[in-house]
Amino acid sequence: MALLQVQNLSKRFGGVQAVDTVSFSVKEDQIYGLIGPNGAGKSTTFNLLTSMIKPDSGKVIFKDKDISNEKPHKIAMLGLGRTFQHVNLFSESTVLDNILMANYCRISDSFWGTIWKSFKSPTTLLTGQEKAFEILKLADLENYADELAKNLDHGHQGMLQIAIALATEPQLLLLDEPMRGMNPIETEEISDFIIKIKESGTSVLIIEHDMKAMMKICDQLSVIVYGKKIAEGTPDEIRNNPEVINAYLGSDNDA
Ligand SMILES: Nc1ncnc2c1ncn2[C@@H]1O[C@H](COP(=O)(O)OP(=O)(O)OP(=O)(O)O)[C@@H](O)[C@H]1O
Ligand SMILES: [Mg+2]
Repeated sequence: MALLQVQNLSKRFGGVQAVDTVSFSVKEDQIYGLIGPNGAGKSTTFNLLTSMIKPDSGKVIFKDKDISNEKPHKIAMLGLGRTFQHVNLFSESTVLDNILMANYCRISDSFWGTIWKSFKSPTTLLTGQEKAFEILKLADLENYADELAKNLDHGHQGMLQIAIALATEPQLLLLDEPMRGMNPIETEEISDFIIKIKESGTSVLIIEHDMKAMMKICDQLSVIVYGKKIAEGTPDEIRNNPEVINAYLGSDNDA
């Protein structure tokens, strides 16, 4: 069943057609990749999916509900979680607190609502702690629980950023360049984490320039060039597609 259906989505910024009638569907239990050159419209597509910006035309259907005009926090509550292209965490808080804060936001849709619920039911806090450690374990970060986020190295901060998004308990997790600036070992760790996320029941929609990693982890990919989808298929279909090789991958790619 399609969890997310993107239908003819378009967005123009002045003279730039950033997203041009893009359509694709993400199924349950899938890692779906969006690839394409710099400025192709990938992050803009994420911003449209999460209502950070409004489309000029087209629709976003999530779990059979049209969310094109929903508010971003409502979309998050419905189960569409995301990370951003640039690191986004509370650097002066511990790793555990970063996860707990994101998880509390899930438990209640308002800050004071969360505080109130935790007074009424102390088990809410406990459940949050258990859930947080489950996520830290999945991210291989349990040994860093009491460390301040700012003291983690780049690779672990990347893992924490994904873990924070996961703590909002999404059904579909949107990741924008989670391997950006990572060395090959860190890239491998993030790839393994994303596969574990899928295996634990959360679907993933990912934007990434690291083709080797994308070909390894994705079940299905779309290629976006100048705002338009030029191809869709499995990693094998994409890496052998002449149009994709010509417009993006190049003939000497190692994907
Ligand atoms: N808020 C904005 N206002 C004006 N133009 C924008 C805005 N956001 C994006 N653009 C333009 O839209 C186009 C698509 O940008 P976008 O960030 O979606 O590309 P991208 O595929 O994510 O690229 P990258 O791989 O470099 O992250 C670019 O030409 C960009 O300059
Ligand atoms: Mg981008």
